[in-house]
This record gives sequence, structure tokens and C-alpha cells, in this order.
Amino acid sequence: MTMQTKIKNQPIKDSYNRRIDYLRISITDKCNLKCVYCMPSKGLEYFKEAEILTDEEIVRFIRIAHNHGLRKVRITGGEPLMRKNIISLVSSIKETGIRDLSLTTNGITLSKIAGDLKAAGLDRVNISMDTLKAARYKTITKGGDINLVRESIKEAERAGLTPVKINVVPIRGINEDEISAFASLTFKENYHIRFIEFMPATRNGIWRKERCVSSEEVLEKISTLGNLDSFEFRGRGPSRNYRLKGAAGIIGIISPLSDHFCGFCNRLRLTADGKIRPCLFSMEEIDIKTPMRNNATDKDIDKLFLHSIKVKPQRHLLNENTGATRIIKTMSKIGG
Ligand code: GTP
Ligand code: 5AD
Ligand code: SF4
Repeated sequence: MTMQTKIKNQPIKDSYNRRIDYLRISITDKCNLKCVYCMPSKGLEYFKEAEILTDEEIVRFIRIAHNHGLRKVRITGGEPLMRKNIISLVSSIKETGIRDLSLTTNGITLSKIAGDLKAAGLDRVNISMDTLKAARYKTITKGGDINLVRESIKEAERAGLTPVKINVVPIRGINEDEISAFASLTFKENYHIRFIEFMPATRNGIWRKERCVSSEEVLEKISTLGNLDSFEFRGRGPSRNYRLKGAAGIIGIISPLSDHFCGFCNRLRLTADGKIRPCLFSMEEIDIKTPMRNNATDKDIDKLFLHSIKVKPQRHLLNENTGATRIIKTMSKIGG
């Protein structure tokens, strides 16, 4: 075996000795909902079609990153299922050799294509659902129909897009009274219910410290339901996992504010308009679209990929009052 093949496919370490083998790709900034914590209430001006990376550009970048040990890709949005030809894009991404290919969706249109996505090579899905109540869902999402999401959860399970993970962002005064109801779902269902601390990530002013429900508070509420065993400290991601005694499913706790999981960070992000974001809250973005459209070679793109790992910050500064909203503009353009 030559030195070349030995080095190929080995994950790169960043300046803080973290192995970077996970890429989150936002494939569209469009969304069919307007969740209060994610999008400004007025809505957003979307990117123009020509500004968005094409399927070929996305796949080219993944192939280059895969040569450097990329193992895990998550497709995000906006709402990723709004992208045209999503099935063939999934299939082309899987063909690059990515081991774990997942997608985060609001579940509005998933039920119809869950089986096709699985057949195309998608391994699993994470579905956002912040309430179990139909009227409240409509309010939080500005008009969404919760029955479509429930149907999608069932179809995802049927199709084998498992484990199905359900993301809940508890917000005081909006849905924090449903924490126990969500956790109780795991007694019967084999879902991962993940409670995510509310991050300041939109400029529409809904974020307030008082509205954040800390992970500690979530765990306190859940522990009244039964014995909570630590299931797995952390599976190379931000979620700390638990299981209620006798439950089929898992409870995940994601604490971007109260827990410094940045030390375990293994990821980069690629925005829909072709910029690598070394951290969710990065000040710096590295443009790969312009060079790609100006005849850059794979070697040139490779250099940009390596550079983005090199400049990855040690951690976010959300707790240091740096005004994350100025950095992030809106979560829906980055994909969480
Ligand atoms: P798996 O654990 O692989 O299923 O994926 P995930 O939890 O990384 O993905 P998902 O898209 O479901 O994200 C769940 C929540 O974690 C979202 O609110 C994300 O914004 C948040 N999140 C994911 N990665 C990061 C990260 O690197 N930093 C921060 N601060 N939040 C993150
Ligand atoms: N804080 C925490 N999580 C958020 N998400 C979107 N905006 C926020 C926020 N401000 C979550 C969504 C989705 C995931 C990709 O990011 O619920 O599940
Ligand atoms: Fe990684 Fe940045 Fe997320 Fe921290 S905030 S875990 S450094 S992406």
C-alpha cells in the first residue's frame, strides 16, 4: 500500500485535536413553515436559484471531503424536502461512500416520500415537532398541520429511517408544559425525543434568557416520571442520552447554552449558497461556490476544505454576550 492510500480517508484533526468527520449541508433556505424560534415573523428573502449550490457542486464537495475521512452527512434546510430532485440528490450523496446519511426535516411532506428516500440511501431522519397539540402547532409554526407530521413519523418508522429522532425546543410560556408528555412517549415508542435549549438565533426578538428552559430543568421534570438511567454519555454528538426505566425509547438532552459540548465538536457546515461555516456561530465563512464556478481544481477546493478546519474556533461564545444573532442572521439559512 502506498503512503497516498494510507492517508486517504483518514479524518483530519483541527487545531484543538478534534476529529472532523461530519458535514451538515443546508440544501435550500426555503421552508414551508415559519417556526417562531427559527424565522423572522415577516418571513425572509430567499436565495435566488442561481445562488444555490447545484447537486453536482454539492456532490463534488462531499467527494473531496470524503477523501479526508468524512463519514457523516446531515442534509438540512430551511426545509430540505422543498428542494427539487431530493431523491436523486440523496442517492448521489450516498454513492460517494458516506457511511451515515441523515436528514433533519419538519415532517410536513415526508410521509409521501419516506420509502423512496430510504431506497435512495438515506439512513435516518430527525423530525422537528415542538408540541403535541394541533392548535398550538399551528401557532408555533404559523399555520402547520400537525397530523401531517404525525403521519410522517409513522411512515419514517415503517420505511426504516430509524432511529426516528424528534427535536423539541422547549420555550417558556409556549410549550414547556409539554416536556413530560413528550418524554412519556418513549415508554411505548422507540423514538429518541431530544430536548434542545433555545438558542439566540433569529433577529425577530423572540429570544430572551427567561424564555430558555435549561436542560437541568428539563431533566428535573422528566425524572418525576420514573428512574432516568444514563444510556450513553454522548454518541460523538451534542446529545446526552438517557432512558426512563422500562421505556422503549431514548431521551436526548442537547444543551448548547448550559453545557460546553464544543470540546466534542466534530462538524463543519455548508450553507445553501456554498459557504463553509466552521462553527454554527462562526464569524468567518469560506466561499467554495465562487471558486467552483471559476474553474477551481479539486486541489484548490481541497485546500479551502483544509483551511476551514484549520480556522475552526475552539467554541462558540453564546454565553459571553457577543450578540449571536448578529453572527447567525437566521437559523433557517444555516440549518441548525
Ligand atoms: P444526530 O445526533 O446525528 O442525530 O444529529 P444532530 O443532533 O446533530 O442533528 P439535528 O439536526 O437534529 O440537531 C439537533 C439540534 O442540535 C439543533 O437545534 C441544532 O441546531 C443543534 N446542533 C447540532 N449541531 C450543533 C452544533 O454543532 N452546535 C450547536 N450549538 N448546536 C448544534
Ligand atoms: N434554538 C434551538 N434549536 C433550534 N432549531 C432551530 N432554531 C433553533 C433555536 N433557535 C432546531 C430545530 C430543528 C433543528 C435543525 O434546529 O428545531 O430541529
Ligand atoms: Fe461546534 Fe460551534 Fe457547535 Fe460548538 S457551537 S459544537 S464549536 S459548531
